[in-house]
Amino acid sequence: MRRPLIAGNWKMNKTIGEAVELAKEIVSAAAKTGDREVVIAPPFTALALVADTLKGSSVGLAAQDLFWEEKGAFTGEVSPLMLKDAGCSHVIVGHSERRQYFGETDETVCRKIKAALSAGLTPIVCIGELLSEREEGKTFAVIERQLRQGLNAISGEDAAKLVIAYEPVWAIGTGKTASPDQAQETHDFIRRQLAELFGKDIAETLRILYGGSVTPENIDDLMRMPDIDGALVGGASLKPESFGRIINFIN
Ligand code: PGA
Repeated sequence: MRRPLIAGNWKMNKTIGEAVELAKEIVSAAAKTGDREVVIAPPFTALALVADTLKGSSVGLAAQDLFWEEKGAFTGEVSPLMLKDAGCSHVIVGHSERRQYFGETDETVCRKIKAALSAGLTPIVCIGELLSEREEGKTFAVIERQLRQGLNAISGEDAAKLVIAYEPVWAIGTGKTASPDQAQETHDFIRRQLAELFGKDIAETLRILYGGSVTPENIDDLMRMPDIDGALVGGASLKPESFGRIINFIN
């Protein structure tokens, strides 16, 4: 009942030409994936041209971040309106690299989610604990804080439009994936939190993606877990063969 979603986060990789080439290959790899949704997130500079490449295909376009104001004197920032204009349907919000290196907080994440929703963009909201937090047994406390503060004052109607991505920070780009059981345990916790915030019905429809060293080798096992509804893929989304295999995961 929850349609699986596989999203590729290209991070700060690919020139415009390279991005268009990769997008073409992903379009053909995604041609047979009717029962699942595929979204790619190239860097800002490539969005508009990749949008042209994706036209008429089933692959959606995401930005990797946004600012919450519509326009004005905010040097270096990109507004929700601009992302819509460039052809985006989705936007990643609160990625751990933004939290770690660019001062993103639960409060700014919340403002960005609201701005994305009012522009009609689907936010892919990233949450996840640091290694030290997991080792200190604080995983659930961190997740709970990120959800309650990040989704503060969001209505049930809006919440129904969200996608949540659980990305344990220690698993991102490290080759160390959470085991399917470890990920499932946290996804189940996230869904129970969402039920407390927005009610069981909405929580049951929301998709919770897993992210952190997802590869062609581990995707099938991850997708077998009942509360894992898709993946947010970094490194392995940069190559057509590996991303192609991931989007064509075997159920
Ligand atoms: P990774 O990145 O797949 O390279 O670990 C995931 C992410 O940061 O979204």
